Order: sequence, then structure tokens, then C-alpha cells
Amino acid sequence: MQNRLNRRGFLSATAAASLATLAVGAAPPRPLGARRPLVVSSNPNALEKTMELIKQGLDPLDAAIAGVAIIEADPNDHSVGYGGLPNEDGVVELDAAVMHGPTHGGGAVASIRNILHPAAVARLVMKRSKHCLITAEGALRFAKAHGFPEMDLMTEESRKIWLRWKEKHSEDWLSQPDGQVDPKVLETLKTRIHGTVHVSAMDTHGDLGCVTSTSGLAFKIPGRIGDSPILGAGLYLDNTVGSCGSTGLGEVNLLNCSSYLIIEGIRRGEHIKDAMVNACKRIIETTTRDPRFRNAEGKPAFGVNFYGMTKEGEVAGACIGGGGTFSIHDGDGIKQVDFAAVRA
Ligand code: GLY
Repeated sequence: MQNRLNRRGFLSATAAASLATLAVGAAPPRPLGARRPLVVSSNPNALEKTMELIKQGLDPLDAAIAGVAIIEADPNDHSVGYGGLPNEDGVVELDAAVMHGPTHGGGAVASIRNILHPAAVARLVMKRSKHCLITAEGALRFAKAHGFPEMDLMTEESRKIWLRWKEKHSEDWLSQPDGQVDPKVLETLKTRIHGTVHVSAMDTHGDLGCVTSTSGLAFKIPGRIGDSPILGAGLYLDNTVGSCGSTGLGEVNLLNCSSYLIIEGIRRGEHIKDAMVNACKRIIETTTRDPRFRNAEGKPAFGVNFYGMTKEGEVAGACIGGGGTFSIHDGDGIKQVDFAAVRA
């Protein structure tokens, strides 16, 4: 019989099929251990789901992927997944990576299009291939081979934001007067979005898993890949040491292998907060040599944040160009932790 699904039906069928892909490659739950579980995230909306699944005995990586999937499916988050801002051609290109503590496995996809849950595809790169990173068309084909449905990741709002950006950056397109443009669109365009979601998780056995997922820098050159899918840059863990990841301008982490630097600092005996502050200082020192990353005063012209935990359950965050707090879940509830703000 002919499929008579309308657009809404098609979307919900696609959403259901995308949700089902979160189980592909996930491990069966195991009995709980005695350790206190812990989840650290750049986005508080990922915390409850990740912790709930850890308490059900899920692998910490599988739990973190499910937590991140909430952000990947959120149309109102313009820095990740569905509704993420597109490249300069109006095409959403996603980057994601995962690491698994017990096996020291890692997998990633970069510049993948039309796939709602790139972090789940990254897990399959780790589990169903002998590789660590697959990009672009190859990543899409790999995802489809495992049953991931294709869908348009632009929302009506992200299309309007991109269109406004395009009109303002072209000599040929004619832009509407500000008064005729949705104020939300104008507000979003005040800063250049390069947000991301990172989750680091520890289960009741003290095993670690981490995930970073992003739509990358808004209006990027097609094919630009940031730090999120690069193991050691946008995330890193060692099951005997700790786990961490980053949000912010990816280039500065690519140039400093920042997440690896932090975990190695902890391995050498640094307190996690000191390891993060030292990584921020290293980034400031190296990137201010490069005019692409410094402002007229010679200071960093970017923001970057780190989030992480040690094997012993200490948490910390540090940032350049920001401040405030981030959220963790310690098994009892959500708590706020202060960032160590590093200034140039
Ligand atoms: N940290 C995300 C990016 O730069 O793509």
C-alpha cells in the first residue's frame, strides 16, 4: 500500500526511527556497583537522563550518548544537532566524538549531514569499524548502513537566521530592514555561535565515558571541522585518570590538544582545576602569537570552556573569556560548580 504519511507524520516517523538508533551499539545494562555516580555537562538538560540511565546500570558512554541526544534533538539549541546553525551555504554539518573508559575506545564523525544523532554514529565508528574518525559523505553512508534515517536538520528558525546572515554578507542578496525581521533572529546574530554539548560520566563501577557533539561554528566554510570530533582536543578520557571535554572556539583546542593536556596534567599529579587552568594559560600563551586569535589589545579574541572529573570524583571547570557556573549531577541532584575564569 502506498505510504500516505503527511509531513508531520513523516517527521514523527523519522524522529521515532532516529530515537531507535540510540539503541544501536549500546551495551546491555549490568548490575550496579558501589561507587557514587557522577555526570558533568556543559548543558544541564543532559544531566537527568544520563544519571537516570547510569542508575539503571547502563554503560557510562551509552548513558552520556542518551543525555546528549536530548540536546541534539532540541530545535531551540542553535549550536548542536537539529536547529544547529548551518554552514555558509545553509547546510547543517555536525561533528561528534565519543570515548569509552573501560576499553579506551574512541570514535568520531565530522561534517556529517542529515543525521540527528551524530554521537550515536560516533559510537558505531568505535564499535563497528577499525577506525576512529569518518567524515562527510562517508560518515553519512556509514550511518545509513546502520539504519540511521536522513532528515533535514534546519528548522524554520535556523533557516531564517541563516537567511538574514546570508543577506547581510552578500553583495547580491537584498536584505530586509531590521524592523521587518523577527527580533529573535536579530538577537541570535549579535554573537557568532560556536556552542557545543559535552558530557563526561562515571558509573557506579567508577568507569568513565564521554561525548562531545556540535554543529560547529555558525556559517562556517563548508567542510570546516572543529575540535569536537578530534580525540584529545574536544574531549579525552583515561579510565585510570579522569574525563574532560570542551566547548567554545575549536581551533584553539586543535592547536593545543587541550583535553589530552588536561588529562595528562592530572596523571602527573596536578589537581584537576590546576590542570584546566594550566591548559587555559597554555592556550592564551600560544594563540596570542597568532593574529587570527587575538584582538587589538593582543588579548584572546575567543571563548573556550572546559568541564571534567577525575577518577576519584573531583569535578572542575575552567574558562577563558567567560565565568559563572556549570552544572553537575552527583547522584542526589543537580549542583552548580564555579568556573575558574582565566584572564589574559
Ligand atoms: N567547539 C566547537 C567548534 O569549534 O566546532
